[in-house]
Amino acid sequence: MILVTGANGQLGRRIVEQLLVRRGSASGIAASVRYPARAADLAERGIAVRQADFDRPADLAAAFTGVDKLILVSTDGPKEVRIGRHRKAIEAARAAGVGHILYTSLIDVAADSPADLAAVHRATEADLAASGVKFTALRNPLYADFLPMTVGAALATGVFQLPAGRGRASFVSRVELAEAAAAAALAPALARQVYQLTGQATHDYHEVAAAVARATGRTVRYQPIGEDAYAEELEASGLPGWLASSMTNIYAAVAAGHFDKASNDFATLVGHPPRPLACLAQELFGRR
Ligand SMILES: NC(=O)c1ccc[n+]([C@@H]2O[C@H](COP(=O)([O-])OP(=O)(O)OC[C@H]3O[C@@H](n4cnc5c(N)ncnc54)[C@H](OP(=O)(O)O)[C@@H]3O)[C@@H](O)[C@H]2O)c1
Repeated sequence: MILVTGANGQLGRRIVEQLLVRRGSASGIAASVRYPARAADLAERGIAVRQADFDRPADLAAAFTGVDKLILVSTDGPKEVRIGRHRKAIEAARAAGVGHILYTSLIDVAADSPADLAAVHRATEADLAASGVKFTALRNPLYADFLPMTVGAALATGVFQLPAGRGRASFVSRVELAEAAAAAALAPALARQVYQLTGQATHDYHEVAAAVARATGRTVRYQPIGEDAYAEELEASGLPGWLASSMTNIYAAVAAGHFDKASNDFATLVGHPPRPLACLAQELFGRR
């Protein structure tokens, strides 16, 4: 049985959907969620829905019983909270006899990265390695789905600001990352322990601005700003401090080159590359 954790989240739900598409039936597919009532539609479609909150480790043994492959979707929240939660999930999976954990990690796990998220994923990958359970790290790049939030303001003002300098990154949509996770879980064997699920090219935010300008016919310009100014802006808009800080230091990691990675791993798993930036810009901004 393949079980996807966090199946009420945006990535987790898409992974379940992609498993259904690829397998053609709900047989052997399970989903865990914190609030089962919100997954009633999955249960109606024949998916085994189990309750699992990593903050309540006593419940995890039942959730993970009989699972051969666990797709562990990383959780949200402050850095230490996430690391602790993932640790509890990995320990419960090991104790339940799960054979293989596929973890949705991040392209940046560098020890010298300024990103809190790099520290989270580095720690969880280390916990997986120490657990003795077979594991695969599916290292995701930046979600393309966030581009409207990042760039959207520029459609009104002509300019968007980020503390990303001239750093380069690739952008892949959640649905495509879900496709890759499902393909990895259904593969009879995997050749590698780490898959870098990037696009096939990286772009700086000037190039992102140009792609959005082409898709919309409007003037869109990127203006780098300092980290402090950006974090203050996010906090002023009402974000909690930890989130403002982690959204800022991820762009600092982009500026420092930690997301400047392009690989063919996505195509190796899925059979074709993810959509390039021009297509994503058309889909996300073309009708605006
Ligand atoms: N690469 C990127 O650009 C990027 C951007 C943002 C986030 N991320 C990471 O990717 C993950 C999935 O993204 P998303 O867009 O699907 O986020 P999301 O919709 O906010 O989902 C958050 C996920 O965290 C799970 N979760 C939270 N607390 C939990 C707990 N105590 N026990 C078990 N699960 C818990 C939720 O499970 P339920 O299903 O039970 O609600 C849900 O699946 C995020 O949590 C974050 O780690 C990556």
